[in-house]
Amino acid sequence: MEDIKIGLVGLGTVGSGVLQMLTSNQDKIANITGRSLTVKTIVVHNIDKPRTVDLTGIQLTSDLNAIMDDPEIQIVVEVMGGIHPAKEIITQLLQAGKHVVTANKDLIANAGEELATTARDTHTDLMYEASVAGGIPILRTIVNSFAADHILEVKGIVNGTTNYILTQMQQHGRSYEEALQQAQKLGFAEADPTNDVAGIDAAYKMIILSQFAFGTQLSLDKMAVTGIDNVQLDDVTQAAELGYTVKLLGVAKRIDDGVFAEVAPVLVPSDHPLATINNENNAVMVTGQAVGETLFYGPGAGGLPTANSVLSDIISESKNIALGTTGNGFNNYQTQTQYADPAD
Ligand code: NDP
Ligand code: HSE
Repeated sequence: MEDIKIGLVGLGTVGSGVLQMLTSNQDKIANITGRSLTVKTIVVHNIDKPRTVDLTGIQLTSDLNAIMDDPEIQIVVEVMGGIHPAKEIITQLLQAGKHVVTANKDLIANAGEELATTARDTHTDLMYEASVAGGIPILRTIVNSFAADHILEVKGIVNGTTNYILTQMQQHGRSYEEALQQAQKLGFAEADPTNDVAGIDAAYKMIILSQFAFGTQLSLDKMAVTGIDNVQLDDVTQAAELGYTVKLLGVAKRIDDGVFAEVAPVLVPSDHPLATINNENNAVMVTGQAVGETLFYGPGAGGLPTANSVLSDIISESKNIALGTTGNGFNNYQTQTQYADPAD
């Protein structure tokens, strides 16, 4: 069986999950793709840091050229996070002919179009299922399963950290600070959790969802974004007494002249399905003109759930390689715009 060698940039919560899943599910993946997928090289920031995953037979380095200059490595997974230098690294990887899978919503929301152009120009693929709602395969679902319908609205809970904090405050009386620390410890929060709690991480995900659902490129400065950083324990307990649950909701909907999108803490009636989504779980409600209301639920953060989405991209790309259809991945940004139902 032919080999496909993979490079990882980042070996934190998600990178470790990807390595773990690729190793433990190797046989199943080989059966599906007809290729043996192995991680050859991993680039990290600090090679002296103790690791919790088995690195036997894998090169661990801080030198990106070890991946860039290795013709054997066809797919690279970027799970280091942040916009810079991730943007420059992905650009160089695409220009070097590597197909890239990323979980980086900051980068895709801000520079997805530019990176997709580079991918198109270099006949490579750029995939990012894991960038929205962690383990929920929502981008593929919108592309495949809403292909014929007109999507009217996408809304939901798309940040695991803030949902974890709000759940812990409401159900366990924990303070905001204590719950945030726990979310960081569990690997749900970003390296710097500011974007999580300020609603910006959720806004980035709504930007990507809007691109898929409406073919519209939104930007952060055109959205109303409020986080949970000012929500007090008293607010959530009083809301509960009145029959409401505080949730950080993202909404993007068609309006007459385009798409309206916002992120804000909302009082959700406690018997509403979104009120029952607890801890790091996410839920995305997609309303189609024909199908009506649908709800997709699952873990929105965490190593293995996110790794499952990364793996779905790696497997798609491996099939492309096996079939000789690379450069046309359906998750490619430009192709996606073609599939979406454009809002004016
Ligand atoms: P972590 O902070 O746990 O890991 C980041 C990794 O990147 C570390 O291994 C770090 O190296 C490495 N790194 C940082 N800077 C560099 C650099 N300049 N060059 C090479 N390697 C570098 O992040 P996560 O795994 O939590 O997140 C990774 C990405 O996945 C982010 O884009 C995040 O938004 C996204 N994501 C995260 C989810 C989660 O639940 N955590 C869910 C969905 C998406 P070292 O180990 O040496 O410090
Ligand atoms: N920090 C993010 C969250 C990770 O809490 O949702 C998943 O994108």
